[in-house]
Amino acid sequence: MIDKSSPIPFYYQLESFIKDQINSGNLVPGDTIPSEREYAEAYGISRMTVRQAINALVTEGLLYRKKGSGTFVANKKIEQPLQGLTSFTEDMKKRGMNPTSELIHFEIVPASINIADELHIKEHAPVYEIKRIRLADGEPMALETNYLSANLVKGLTEEVVNTSIYAYIEEKLNLEIAHADQMIESIQASSEDARLLKINKDHPMLYIKRNTFLQDGTPLELVKSHYRGDRYKFYIKMKRFE
Ligand code: GLP
Repeated sequence: MIDKSSPIPFYYQLESFIKDQINSGNLVPGDTIPSEREYAEAYGISRMTVRQAINALVTEGLLYRKKGSGTFVANKKIEQPLQGLTSFTEDMKKRGMNPTSELIHFEIVPASINIADELHIKEHAPVYEIKRIRLADGEPMALETNYLSANLVKGLTEEVVNTSIYAYIEEKLNLEIAHADQMIESIQASSEDARLLKINKDHPMLYIKRNTFLQDGTPLELVKSHYRGDRYKFYIKMKRFE
């Protein structure tokens, strides 16, 4: 599989070979890949070349290293479209995955000046502060904190937020969720993220801030989420001219 007469660099050939093995299902998530020495001996290339190929695949998130035990095939990342204002519950169900939540915090608190500003309500007005671990097929994906005005979103309970907040708002309150502004930034896992999502501190994460609005422009929610960077990738289709 390494063609020594080819102008394609050896590291790149090995990288493509390992990728093919993952895509064809010869290597599946959780499998250990051969060691650098084994690859080097099997294909008559240097360990440095093997390392370069493996490093590229680790950076891409297809492989991950575990200290002392080797290099493993990572779970496939969830590809999340950026068009469409959807909920976590809808997104996971669409993929045939089972969405669950673990409630960490649920309280009505007086809005801080910042939250009040984001939700266009008065400082100290009551807001729900809801922190949930969002899981897909039992695997923690994100830690999400929602702020919603308690005067607008009436009757939220712990039972409701254990399932879908969006479903409650639309089906029970008959409010029309219309549009949102969303910002995505790269961050490192905080100690809290690490503890609750069972990852290492400083793990790569995506910080997603969403401000959602009703049809008439009323701010509905402010959401601050920390998504696992190794489990998510986002995509969007773009048109040069609208
Ligand atoms: C996603 C969004 C959040 C939104 C949530 C609602 O996770 N990032 O901004 O609040 O969906 O999800 P659900 O309706 O499942 O509670």
